[in-house]
Amino acid sequence: MAKFQRGVTAEANLHSLYLMFKARAGNEAEIRTILAGFQSIIETYSEDYSEAELSGFVAIGSEYWPQLYPNKTPIQLCEFPNFKAGHHFAPSTPYDLFIHIRSDRVDVNHLVGTYICHQLAECVYLQEQVKGFRYLDGRDFTGFIEAGDNPHGLKRQQVALVNEKEDPLFAGGSYIHIQRYRHLLSLWQALSETEQENVIGREKLSNRILAQQDPFSHYQTTHVLDENNELIQVLNQSMPYGTMKSEGLFYIACCHTPIAFEQVLASRLGVESEYFDQLLNFTRAETGAAFFAPSVDFLIQNQ
Ligand code: HEM
Repeated sequence: MAKFQRGVTAEANLHSLYLMFKARAGNEAEIRTILAGFQSIIETYSEDYSEAELSGFVAIGSEYWPQLYPNKTPIQLCEFPNFKAGHHFAPSTPYDLFIHIRSDRVDVNHLVGTYICHQLAECVYLQEQVKGFRYLDGRDFTGFIEAGDNPHGLKRQQVALVNEKEDPLFAGGSYIHIQRYRHLLSLWQALSETEQENVIGREKLSNRILAQQDPFSHYQTTHVLDENNELIQVLNQSMPYGTMKSEGLFYIACCHTPIAFEQVLASRLGVESEYFDQLLNFTRAETGAAFFAPSVDFLIQNQ
């Protein structure tokens, strides 16, 4: 398989930095060259700060892709889904580029972030930046373990990366979806622990799945089966973010197909069912965007 961007499948870290950009028109050639060098920047800083477990990836917005690489498009590339059901919807806020940097050191993330922003300065506007961090023992601000059931080992690659059969030109790439959720924590904290557990569908302390599930629990509405009756899975690379004014989850799904995220999101919103994910009463998606993170080989060969 083509050399993939290691940050797509990397194991959890302590800190992350998310940079979302809008490209200035007419800079495509320069942007392609900078993106082609991104993994070698990561490798250089990784050697200098080997204990930091640094990794990262660059991803190109689905709407910007045709401008940047007009001759070659990943087979399943599509815009962020436009679902609305009842009071709940998932806003689409397209970005042209998403740079994801993570490590166990906030200063190393900052160094890499400033370096890449300096490189891109003439070609892009920085639209949003978010710092994620590990909270307690890998929990979300709701107090529940986040992504505890993520795939492990080689399975991470199988779930997250396009394989040769699916799309030979884009093998090793990954369809990426992001949503920045802002939690309504005073509402959430007004619930009893049992009520919170029913919303998530898991025990708070142990993360055990509740034997009795409400049909609108997060567990139930995210457990979606495909046409072969197999569980739809994405690699969840989300992390909490927060300031003294707002706290939430920066949700990131990496998958070999964009359909997985779309189906789970549709199920959570109750697009085709009377049950929507009750967690949506306690958190709001403020952004949402779809990207493709190509393999390192693709980025280098298509400068
Ligand atoms: C504010 C946003 C969200 C919060 C606080 C949240 C929280 C959680 C928690 C606590 C779990 C159980 C932990 C585990 O996997 O062991 C979980 C699982 C999961 N979440 Fe989310 N999640 C959020 C958004 C999303 C979104 C946007 C999606 C997909 C569209 C999603 C899909 C899933 C899936 C598929 C699971 C595995 C189900 C399970 O085994 O419990 N989540 N989430």
